[in-house]
Amino acid sequence: MGKQRKRGVISLFDVVDESLLKGTAATSNGCSAHGNGDNLNTSVNRWNGRHYSQRYYEILEKRKTLPVWHQKDEFLQALKANQILILVGETGSGKTTQIPQFVLEAVELETPDKRRKFMIGCTQPRRVAAMSVSRRVAEEMDVNIGDEVGYSIRFEDCTSSRTILKYLTDGMLLREAMADPLLERYKVIILDEAHERTLATDVLFGLLKEVLKNRPDLKLVVMSATLEAEKFQGYFYGAPLMKVPGRLHPVEIFYTQEPERDYLEAAIRTVMQIHQYEAPGDVLVFLTGEEEIEDACKKISKEVANMGDNYGPIKVVPLYSTLPPAMQQKIFDSAPPPLMEGGPPGRKIVVSTNIAETSLTIDGIVYVIDPGFAKQKVYNPRICVESLLVSPISKASAHQRTGRAGRTQPGKCFRLYTEKSFHNDLQPQTHPEILRSNIANTVLTLTKLGIDDLVHFDFMDPPAPETLMRALEVLNYLGALDDDGNLTKLGEIMSEFPLDPQMAKMLVISPEFNCSNEILSISAMLSIPNCFVRPREAQKAADEAKAMFAHIDGDHLTLLNVYHAYKKNNEDPSWCYENFINHRALKAADNVKQLVRNMVRYNLKLCSTDFNSRDYYNNIRKAMLAGYFMQVAHLEHAGHYLTLKDKQVVHLHPSNCLDHKPEWVIYNEFVLTSRNFIRTVTDVRGEWIIDIAPHYFDLENFPQCEARRVLEKLYKKREKEREESKNKK
Ligand code: CDP
Ligand code: MG
Repeated sequence: MGKQRKRGVISLFDVVDESLLKGTAATSNGCSAHGNGDNLNTSVNRWNGRHYSQRYYEILEKRKTLPVWHQKDEFLQALKANQILILVGETGSGKTTQIPQFVLEAVELETPDKRRKFMIGCTQPRRVAAMSVSRRVAEEMDVNIGDEVGYSIRFEDCTSSRTILKYLTDGMLLREAMADPLLERYKVIILDEAHERTLATDVLFGLLKEVLKNRPDLKLVVMSATLEAEKFQGYFYGAPLMKVPGRLHPVEIFYTQEPERDYLEAAIRTVMQIHQYEAPGDVLVFLTGEEEIEDACKKISKEVANMGDNYGPIKVVPLYSTLPPAMQQKIFDSAPPPLMEGGPPGRKIVVSTNIAETSLTIDGIVYVIDPGFAKQKVYNPRICVESLLVSPISKASAHQRTGRAGRTQPGKCFRLYTEKSFHNDLQPQTHPEILRSNIANTVLTLTKLGIDDLVHFDFMDPPAPETLMRALEVLNYLGALDDDGNLTKLGEIMSEFPLDPQMAKMLVISPEFNCSNEILSISAMLSIPNCFVRPREAQKAADEAKAMFAHIDGDHLTLLNVYHAYKKNNEDPSWCYENFINHRALKAADNVKQLVRNMVRYNLKLCSTDFNSRDYYNNIRKAMLAGYFMQVAHLEHAGHYLTLKDKQVVHLHPSNCLDHKPEWVIYNEFVLTSRNFIRTVTDVRGEWIIDIAPHYFDLENFPQCEARRVLEKLYKKREKEREESKNKK
């Protein structure tokens, strides 16, 4: 394999205007200027025929100073000559925002038909990045977001028939491949942030290798921030590697002398010290999640407010994935001005998850605080549990975080761990997600794509055999794959829903229980971030408000109550506010309800049981069980719950709304902490379990436990009933 495949070298760019490729003069800042075909400096926008705004020219000057501009010609030539190209460059060098535009210009030039039937796709592992970057690029190209430049993330498509550059999550491109296996609408696909090695990106690697063989006119650019480049090269037939030298200033690294007991407290303390003793410059703090970040932001603001006027004003900005887009935008605001003329300068303090590690670049950061942790997915295939756990980051991540301090000037990075710990405890690279995930969903997608032989699929890092077996087993229990591993009709429909297989099963089967409308709403509510707001200063009021929605039989039904109440109150934001409900989350839930379209497409009936019927809630609970029968727990005499089959001791999460401890529950989530919790639980009945999922709860391979003995009795009872009814006849 060693070399780029010959048949892969193709003609797409052979007719590119040579002047563009050669570049002409050099501009004063050393960047190459543009050829004749390139109208960047003319007054009419080639993409929409309008006159450029003043802002366009302002941004253009800034763009030209980005490191990738120095290598624009080199890049375009390499792209012309190769089907696959790997581009490695420091974060902030302009890969995500500029490279797709370079590609666009080149493709545009070689498309004589001005009706423009081409499209460039650029994947992002994170929704936030896809949205934020596409907005920025739309601005740079002086077009409206959603027109020529758009984005597509799960449950939100901001593109139109005019879109020629689409930023999309890697998961969305994978879904597109299901409908369009050769990805024919694309001329060039850019897999960005490849170093993140998300599950979807890894699957796309393998898929695209196949697609490229069948589509000689398609090109692939793989972009990455850190240097696992040789590994990428080896995997992609020795494709050429282009390096964009960073523009990094030196960053001084400080370690703590002793390990920190409480990294959150240590991080806040470090912010205070920087603000008091260090020269002007913005601060970036890496924390692990929304709650922690909001908490830190409040504490920092409060402590600085107490410091008095001798210190400059601060602006504290949180950044995490579930933050509304307008709030995310605030990370790009500048630091506040001094309170009075000649007073101490202001500082911006961004408190972020690892989104800010490589996905989003914030200019002006001089100080980085790195506590050394991030929320990471872990998977235990034995008990089929996937969780997000706060875990130590890798050396590569630590290195990236440090780099964020040296973008605009020399900076400082405060690592809140010891130097010894850095060297001895941190692993070199973060493990690819595919090695730490439940891959049932991926297996379903690949099977739908016609890839049956998963053992021989060309994964860059193949998943563990046990993980693969588990996935196949789960899909078989759900009825998506038959005993030979072939996709069933049910599996085919399930694969069309962008949901995990259990939820997809629950939805697809719900018409049989005459409650698909309600199951749709519940699925939507399970797909959004927590909708209950519980501000520290009003916890009691918030809990009381939540109790108004509580359904004694379970949290799923409580969520349904919230959704119905929201609708009944005309989606009124002030109603949400008064009831401690997150309006944005509920709006997102409404978006998820576009799944209705999938239901209609597959002739799945939209129906409800009469609300006054005794069966209204029972039917809903049964339909949920039909999807989630592998997530059942049984109340043991000792007072705790035991998950079925894999026998893990668990407790009901304190957030539950039940007024009793049911004998059997289904749960939506297994939360791994010092104590194992099951969260979002609903009461189900033993009889339903043996009626709905006898194939899973067959006594032949069921470990000895209290639950087994109960089920045994239930099975016997059922048998007796059957005998009796036979005798009657
Ligand atoms: O992808 P890479 O990390 O190489 O860089 P990029 O995301 O293309 O960002 C390049 C530059 O664009 C940043 O340094 C920012 O100056 C600017 N940018 C911005 O101002 N606003 C954004 N939303 C995104 C990028
Ligand atoms: Mg980038």
